[in-house]
Amino acid sequence: MRAWKVWCVAAVSAAVMAAAPKVVGGPYVVNVSGRGATVAWIVESDEATFHPAGAAAKASPALHVEYTNLGVLQPGTKYEYEAAGQKGSFKTPPRGADPFKLIVFGDDRTRHDVHRKMVARILENGVPDLMLHTGDLVENGWDSSLWKLFFEIERDLLKQTAFFPAQGNHERNSADFYQFFQQRQPYYSFNWGNAHFTVFSSDIANSADTKAGRDALWAAQTKWMEDDLAANQNADYRFVVAHHAPFTAVASRQGDNPHVTALAPLWEKYHVTAGLFGHDHNYQHYLKNGVHYIVSGGGGAPLYDVNKPDPAITQKVVSVENFVTVSFNGKTAKAQAIDINGKVIDEFEFTAGGK
Ligand SMILES: [Fe+2]
Repeated sequence: MRAWKVWCVAAVSAAVMAAAPKVVGGPYVVNVSGRGATVAWIVESDEATFHPAGAAAKASPALHVEYTNLGVLQPGTKYEYEAAGQKGSFKTPPRGADPFKLIVFGDDRTRHDVHRKMVARILENGVPDLMLHTGDLVENGWDSSLWKLFFEIERDLLKQTAFFPAQGNHERNSADFYQFFQQRQPYYSFNWGNAHFTVFSSDIANSADTKAGRDALWAAQTKWMEDDLAANQNADYRFVVAHHAPFTAVASRQGDNPHVTALAPLWEKYHVTAGLFGHDHNYQHYLKNGVHYIVSGGGGAPLYDVNKPDPAITQKVVSVENFVTVSFNGKTAKAQAIDINGKVIDEFEFTAGGK
């Protein structure tokens, strides 16, 4: 009788544990402006298992986002919050040209130990006001288990900053990317102090099932980008952010992204300060016709060589895991690229008021 009771309690407990929702990601903050923000967290409510017939099962967690919109915020203010049982904080963008600091990094997929070390290095360097991600957050955007791991590794960083990701090809235009980061379409823009950021999807291959659909999205996005840049010529700095870069020092990838390279004249016309990209797992810095091009794709994915840089435009190329910090103070914006061991590998300033 006693043994039956013990078995019964254990069985019921196991069933309850499997079904009990638990927070596995966040809280984190997206869509931060001077007026509002969204605090979100990821809940695992159950899991499915699947496998080829006769093979071992793989677990696939059932994830969904929960969120709350904070709609009564003031600019230039640090907010502390408590959500999903955890405390976090973030700053809203400053008024005018007050100082702020951002970081850029990308391509943290695949080598999770390296990703973890990179997050620790970023935290050691100082929590930024906002974090731009150049894409390839996970190896496959349709694999729920990878999102769960991404949020676990990024937890201590995401709960202290505002997060603005661009889609990489490994996100595969997945529904979870839009759900988790509260985005309605693959491109968006925002202001932070005296800087304007235009984030777009360079992953044209996964954007639609048909060529007509892909062409239509690219045309609409390019039109939106031109309108957006034209409307923000008064900002001291303009940045475009995406995954695929227009130029590369990787010999095997020369000319891979002609659709992005074709946008460079548009960025010159509208006095873009810099393009911030990923996809190549290394660090690259170019300067062409007044526009800086930064590739920071060394967040954890396997490194690529920088064996064919264009000498006409190259400022620095290094095959190392890295992130980039930019400290803005009025008309001064100092950038540093920092490798995973904390060594500064590139240092330069952006020129304010490109117009
Ligand atoms: Fe990529």
